[in-house]
Amino acid sequence: MNSASKLPVVVLISGNGSNLQAIIEATEENLPIEIRAVIGNLPDIIGLQRAKLAGIETAILSHKTFPDRESYDHALMKLIDSYAPDLLVLAGFMRILTPGFVRHYAGRVLNIHPSLLPKYTGLNTHQRVLDAQDRLHGASIHFVTEDLDGGPVVVQAQVRVETDDNAESLAARVLQKEHLIYPLAIRWFAEKRLSMDEKGKVVMDGKRLEKPVVFAPQDSIG
Ligand code: GAR
Repeated sequence: MNSASKLPVVVLISGNGSNLQAIIEATEENLPIEIRAVIGNLPDIIGLQRAKLAGIETAILSHKTFPDRESYDHALMKLIDSYAPDLLVLAGFMRILTPGFVRHYAGRVLNIHPSLLPKYTGLNTHQRVLDAQDRLHGASIHFVTEDLDGGPVVVQAQVRVETDDNAESLAARVLQKEHLIYPLAIRWFAEKRLSMDEKGKVVMDGKRLEKPVVFAPQDSIG
């Protein structure tokens, strides 16, 4: 596929960037996207090194140099728009986005969250799952709306919670699934099979999805 038919993408990160790495590797295989830039809100994060190693342009826009959320998001929008992406991929981007930002990219932002949404929005999801003694946990890909971690869910991968799990072991198994479902959802979007309609519903292959695509713990993904 030549680059003209590849979906232009910008990825936002705040840390390790293992999801970014999975997306880069899928792109090196046959995921039809062009990652035009990876933007971090913190300097010295491993994810930016991963992007550089893959020959992808990087930028740092530190939120610490802005007086408030609005001014940061305004500058971030300007930076993102200079790369003219058709899709914005939040891959461990640990910032709450302003309504103006979300509206600007309506239907064009995907996020990954380490829980089976709508359960456990916010932080420390793995420990909260253990504390609640849930038997199932997992990860979700959703479209971003003004509702924090509350946008419509596209796809989920479940993992079983084992009796000897701690937050770290659980996080590691969830992350393995994240690395499979994020490239998959991006592929659906790039192939124009996936969108969000004006009512904020997920549309897949021309039909509204009443519930997300769910991969059970034993399912193979992709
Ligand atoms: C991932 O587990 C992702 O689901 C989570 O941050 C981690 C980033 O890992 N995102 C959130 O919690 C967003 N609310 P990575 O930097 O190695 O991809």
